Amino acid sequence: MTQPTSSPSDNPTGSHKGVIFSGMRPTGLLHLGNYMGALQNWVALQEHYNCIYCAADIHALTTLENGEEANQIKPNIEDMVLDWLAAGIDPEKSIVFVQSQVPEVMTLHTLLGMVTPLGWLTRVPTFKDKVRQMHETEETVNYGLVGYPVLQTADIILYKADTVPVGQDQVPHIELSREIVRRFNNMFGETFPEPQAKLTDAPLLVGLDGKNKMSKTLDNHLDLAATPEETTKRVLTAFTDPERVRREIPGRPEICNIYSLHKIFSGADATETVYKECTSAQRGCVDCKRHLADGINDYLKDLRARREEIKARPDYVQELLHEGGKKARAIAKETIAEVYEKMGLG
Ligand code: TRP
Ligand code: SF4
Repeated sequence: MTQPTSSPSDNPTGSHKGVIFSGMRPTGLLHLGNYMGALQNWVALQEHYNCIYCAADIHALTTLENGEEANQIKPNIEDMVLDWLAAGIDPEKSIVFVQSQVPEVMTLHTLLGMVTPLGWLTRVPTFKDKVRQMHETEETVNYGLVGYPVLQTADIILYKADTVPVGQDQVPHIELSREIVRRFNNMFGETFPEPQAKLTDAPLLVGLDGKNKMSKTLDNHLDLAATPEETTKRVLTAFTDPERVRREIPGRPEICNIYSLHKIFSGADATETVYKECTSAQRGCVDCKRHLADGINDYLKDLRARREEIKARPDYVQELLHEGGKKARAIAKETIAEVYEKMGLG
């Protein structure tokens, strides 16, 4: 990643590659689902785009339930960014930074609020879900949560990013970003590219409960940074074929999540063996899970070793985030100057 050049308004990163922006709310350690669904993709994209990756700490505040929770944000950022680096996010190639270190995003959020009809925000499915989950109503919910996608839009377009790798659940937000950008450009002249969501083709990981997507909230996940022993222990708690109540009953791999995970982590030959041994009752579920856990631990071995190595370097993450913040802010300031000009401010 190069520093911004003299014409940041044409292309904020100063080259002809597309600009990728993505973010994650800092909820702490990442799990295997985050890795397969997003992080792995982020790493690969570094080769073809100028990438900007953000720890969205202000977004984390939109669902804050008490003041205590705020104390968790900084350690969560550290844990999450360590996972990013361990997975292969390279601060030499990409800008890695913390959202709140670039306060310009809040300026842009306010200004975009002037071109965003309230109805656009209250009809977003993630908003309705969150309101319900938090036992709020549209009367009692915080203004900040309503503006969540406006802040997310500000994140993206502050760097004039054109491509946003996200999961399916975030697509409505990116659609909204496009509408906001269109409206802004119509009113004030062509300023921002319409960002485009980029979905991964990675398989969706089902959690240890065997029925829901892997998620921390549902506690059906496997942390990337867990020890091999912890991983094995958790895999052993997973649901399998519910009708296989005894070892002698043949199993049905096609409905068993352990089998679908074998397909991803154990290789083709081993997976075929699992199928045969399961359907002929030659293999018990406990052995099958141990086998899977070994496969996952092996898969994560290098990532975990790198994580330990990076974690041992004093202040490394903090310094890198500081540097990333400076690079991001330089771009952000240019954009804000342009927006001020166009909106008649300053
Ligand atoms: N809302 C995203 C999520 O919950 C995180 C996020 C914040 C984001 N800002 C972003 C994603 C900008 C893409 C682009 O996953
Ligand atoms: Fe699932 Fe393996 Fe048990 Fe078959 S043997 S039901 S694939 S855990």
